[in-house]
Amino acid sequence: MENLFQDTLLQSAGSEISISRVLRKLPETMFILYMLIMGVSAFTIQPEEHPGAAENCQFRGKYFKTDFRVEGEPVVLRCPQVQPWLWTSVSPHTSLAWRKNDSARMVPGKEETRMWVQDGALWILPALQEDSGTYICTARNASYCDEMSVELRVFEKTEASLPFISYPQILTLSTSGFLVCPDLSEFTHNKMDMKIQWYKDSVLLDQDNEKFLNVKGTSRLLIHNVSVEDAGYYSCAVTFTHEGMLYNVSRNIELRVNKKEEETIPVIISPHQTILASLGSRLTIPCKVFLGAGTQSTTMLWWMANNTKIENAYQGGRVAQGQRQEYSENNENYIEVPLIFDPVIREDLNTDFKCFVRNTLSFQMLHATVKEAASFSWGMVLAPLSLVILVLVGIIWMHRRCKHRSGKAYSWTMFKTGH
Ligand SMILES: *[C@@H]1O[C@H](CO)[C@@H](O)[C@H](O)[C@H]1NC(C)=O
Ligand SMILES: *[C@@H]1O[C@H](CO)[C@@H](O)[C@H](O)[C@H]1NC(C)=O
Ligand SMILES: *[C@@H]1O[C@H](CO)[C@@H](O)[C@H](O)[C@H]1NC(C)=O
Ligand SMILES: *[C@@H]1O[C@H](CO)[C@@H](O)[C@H](O)[C@H]1NC(C)=O
Ligand SMILES: *[C@@H]1O[C@H](CO)[C@@H](O)[C@H](O)[C@H]1NC(C)=O
Repeated sequence: MENLFQDTLLQSAGSEISISRVLRKLPETMFILYMLIMGVSAFTIQPEEHPGAAENCQFRGKYFKTDFRVEGEPVVLRCPQVQPWLWTSVSPHTSLAWRKNDSARMVPGKEETRMWVQDGALWILPALQEDSGTYICTARNASYCDEMSVELRVFEKTEASLPFISYPQILTLSTSGFLVCPDLSEFTHNKMDMKIQWYKDSVLLDQDNEKFLNVKGTSRLLIHNVSVEDAGYYSCAVTFTHEGMLYNVSRNIELRVNKKEEETIPVIISPHQTILASLGSRLTIPCKVFLGAGTQSTTMLWWMANNTKIENAYQGGRVAQGQRQEYSENNENYIEVPLIFDPVIREDLNTDFKCFVRNTLSFQMLHATVKEAASFSWGMVLAPLSLVILVLVGIIWMHRRCKHRSGKAYSWTMFKTGH
């Protein structure tokens, strides 16, 4: 029984060995197979004949931008891996094919349905909410193939969907600036008769006035002297005709109005020029800058050691620049960047630390020197302590000596009397 069990164990160990041998050979086998397939395919596969074949095709990831579109409107997706300036002139030897990621079927090239591929671009007309999803574009020629995916989200146009489908744009208070109607290039081939209509909160801005100017022949709306009330949702629309049908192509914009950012001359209010620290301990020196009403966003603040950047001078990170903090107290703005020593060593006492601050108005610098603090040292504690110990030892010794003597005297007496 035991023998049988051992045999089984041995056998299974043996089979494990042979499996692992196979596994070790697997990459080689795969490589040979791959080379064979590549060799054969180089001679036989014509890209146009196998647009759906995804083998040997490199996936280059998902495009960073998601397309948010409105239901009922035309949607055009371009292959993200093809540069915009090549859109109209992709090499005739390159085929661009599209499929939705949950479907193996390629989108057809002819206009049979709402969805087709034309000049390498995916057209959906009109788009429905269920078209939302991930689309994959495969670009292939005789020697090369790659894929990228694009995400499309189609929303019903409602007030509630505006935050999702709007492009954020920013203008500065009390200045004049443009809103731009984005991503229209597919629908406005002839720029001169481009007719864009602009809406604010669904009200048509049909008259040019001292506030809004619809700049003809461009996709821009000029807003004069931007005020806080100008913030909010805008939409712009062009009409597009396809096979006798008129479609709206609209884009939504959320205008945010920022306060004008003004700069002031920064003042370094900390550190004090000499910082006391004890060797071996952790030390933080904050460099604190006062800006008053000035903006923090354009002010740079950094530390250097012996005119070298901190991260270069201390590659091990013993001394490092901490997180930048921006805060306001009583409506006055401050920035702080700490320099952190973990720990302080003797070399720091000879190093020239400087805090720099710079904006467009000013450039300033402050030296900081680390000095050894004379407060606490073991020597100072140990000296009196050792004295006390010495005295104690002395007392004990003398005490014991006395006891010993009297003990001796006692035994003498015992001896004498006992005799
Ligand atoms: C398709 O995309 C969805 C969401 O983007 C993802 O969860 C899913 O794994 C993808 N499917 C395939 C086959 O790539
Ligand atoms: C195929 O495409 C790649 C990458 O775009 C390019 O470098 C190569 O020259 C193309 N080959 C042919 C035969 O067009
Ligand atoms: C801009 O608008 C503000 C009110 O919003 C007004 O006080 C100011 O005079 C205007 N400036 C110009 C140059 O029109
Ligand atoms: C296009 O949009 C405008 C404004 O939203 C609307 O008045 C018009 O009816 C729309 N046209 C079509 C064809 O949907
Ligand atoms: C900075 O320079 C001083 C003297 O030149 C030197 O003793 C010190 O080690 C230097 N510190 C660093 C971090 O290089």
